[in-house]
Amino acid sequence: MVLFVNSCVRDESRTGKLAWALLEKIGDDYTEIRLEEVSFPKTDENFLKKRDSLIASGCFDDDSFSLARQFASADTIVIAAPYWDLSFPASLKQYIEHINVLGITFEYTAEGMPHGLCKAEKLYYIMTAGGSYVPDEFGFMYIKALAQNFYGIGDVELIKATGLDIVGADVESIMNKALADISSG
Ligand SMILES: Cc1cc2nc3c(=O)[nH]c(=O)nc-3n(C[C@H](O)[C@H](O)[C@H](O)COP(=O)(O)O)c2cc1C
Repeated sequence: MVLFVNSCVRDESRTGKLAWALLEKIGDDYTEIRLEEVSFPKTDENFLKKRDSLIASGCFDDDSFSLARQFASADTIVIAAPYWDLSFPASLKQYIEHINVLGITFEYTAEGMPHGLCKAEKLYYIMTAGGSYVPDEFGFMYIKALAQNFYGIGDVELIKATGLDIVGADVESIMNKALADISSG
């Protein structure tokens, strides 16, 4: 199963356009989660206490863990995230807080190192940015570190198009280049 984690919000999202091209290329059916449609609970003390107690009693089939179980069982993950404020929309961070469940997506070794429990071997991270100051470290590199070190997904690929909002930018040609890279990649 391909899991499409979609944090795009605009109808005309360029990030979404790249993601759909990739999904078409991968060719499998996919399950999409539109993060803007998910009402994530607040990660407050009550939430954490309830989660800790479910984990301590081994209740991993609880409904509150359904997104974590879905993520852990996907074969391929595709994350689409517009570049916002040097990283990505807050809904993606909410999703991460929600799926990082000890005993479902990852566990800790006795030495305190995370060990992945996810089935996927490949994660694609797709983003577009308006400008050209687009360091990878706060968005893509963070997701890559989680994928490789927490979830156990070794193969992480970045697909991106940048400079789309620069005055005078040839948006069509930037997008066509990214789309061509997807179809030839
Ligand atoms: C809330 C917000 C924050 C943004 N922050 C940045 C930024 O830090 N750097 C940048 O280059 N572009 C930034 N942009 C521009 C977007 O990255 C750009 O328009 C992107 O292509 C939007 O993706 P979409 O077409 O999929 O919605 C921001 C846009 C929004 C709405």
